[in-house]
Amino acid sequence: MTTPVALSEQLAHAARVVQAVEQGRSLGDALLSVPPGVRPGVQALVFYALRHWGQATVLIGLLADQPPKPLVRALLGLALTLLLPEAQQTDGVVYDVHTVVNQAVNALTVLRAPQGAVGFVNACLRRYTREAQSLLEQSKSDAVARWNHPFWWVQRLRRDHPHHWQALLERNQQAAPMTLRVNRQKVEPQAYLGALKGAGIDAVLLGANAIELRQAVPVEQLPGWFDGHCSVQDAAAQLAAPLLLQAGPLPAQARVLDACAAPGGKTAHLIELGAHVHALEVDAERSKRIHQNLQRLGLQAQVTTADAGKPEQWWDGVQYDAILLDAPCTASGIVRRHPDVRWLRRPTDVEQLVQQQRRLLLALWPLLKPGGCLLYCTCSLFKAEGASQMQWFLAQQPQANSLPAPGHLLPGKSTENPSLVTQSNPVGAESWGARAGLLAAGDGFFYGLLQKTQEF
Ligand SMILES: C[S@@+](CC[C@H](N)C(=O)[O-])C[C@H]1O[C@@H](n2cnc3c(N)ncnc32)[C@H](O)[C@@H]1O
Repeated sequence: MTTPVALSEQLAHAARVVQAVEQGRSLGDALLSVPPGVRPGVQALVFYALRHWGQATVLIGLLADQPPKPLVRALLGLALTLLLPEAQQTDGVVYDVHTVVNQAVNALTVLRAPQGAVGFVNACLRRYTREAQSLLEQSKSDAVARWNHPFWWVQRLRRDHPHHWQALLERNQQAAPMTLRVNRQKVEPQAYLGALKGAGIDAVLLGANAIELRQAVPVEQLPGWFDGHCSVQDAAAQLAAPLLLQAGPLPAQARVLDACAAPGGKTAHLIELGAHVHALEVDAERSKRIHQNLQRLGLQAQVTTADAGKPEQWWDGVQYDAILLDAPCTASGIVRRHPDVRWLRRPTDVEQLVQQQRRLLLALWPLLKPGGCLLYCTCSLFKAEGASQMQWFLAQQPQANSLPAPGHLLPGKSTENPSLVTQSNPVGAESWGARAGLLAAGDGFFYGLLQKTQEF
């Protein structure tokens, strides 16, 4: 039997994690420092807090005369998020006001904070409970508190998606579903759906291979997980492999370059659909994850650890039939899954990533056979990393033609708001959302498809 962990102890761990994120560390990385037995509870607290961190920080500004020390600020912010009206309305565990105040104060003792910090947090939380309504009203006039995203992010999204920006920001506050891709080399999707139901896991088929679970489960509980029957992959990400392989006639056993491949989700999908893949990844640690994933799925690829932008260091001179460039990006389309991303990014990151994406596009284009296709994608909602990149590339590459592709896919759920699955699309194809019912549930993504014209 496991002993329940006191909220104060969870808050103390959570405060360290939030402090690390505020100092620029990724949430996934910071959570590894939390003992495994406590981690699920701490993770739930931190995910929730980071989704409401804009409100928390603005409230701290209203409550504190002096900026508190980072760890104390993190703890105060966490406790404030638990007192927000949103927290009191959730279906999960709801803590009453006195529990939150007492446990937050106890957490400071766990953290060995000085007595002054204890008094300060106690006073702030008690004042919040007395004046919540007026403090919340004051805070809401600040866009960071209203939308729980940095101001520059709100502005950029508003400019890029004038009809959807508010819905997108609100959508980012919700958890994303867990979606699987069935490995058809091992099992048919209908049969796998049956296996899930048999294991007591409620799920629906979304598209050709995609299955959405009603509730996330640890992967070890998925039937056939260790035998490679399925992978965890977002519904919108599952479009990449079929988009590229069905873009035009490909020779049997087409040779495909997956230029930014780790952890190998799209690599595996390409192989499952019959391609011979050369997977490149610049980060050696992340390359290992490609091997691990392929091994579990029983698939094979040529995996190289190298910079895709420097083909002179790794290319054998034989052009590829097709290229997938799933480029490094701000990840602004996947903040439902990574609530830290919005707080980690800086406005200057966008321009840096735009330059990196251009460098990769320019370096990889000569490696594509005439008549072949390059699929460019990012998990970003920002036009600078999607539609604008395609316009820039097409303007300077006379041999590049744009083929129909989804363009910017916005995260959403068709049942709630069908308008969110439409896209601002540089290349037509209004019907992508409808054609792939699975898009409605997917992350924010950009897909642009380029074909190299034949040489004369
Ligand atoms: C968006 S992720 C790719 C996700 C992957 N395609 C999948 O579906 O599992 C981008 C990857 O590109 C890698 N990367 C970044 N710059 C690179 C470069 N210059 N050359 C090769 N890989 C690079 C990153 O380390 C990261 O693993």
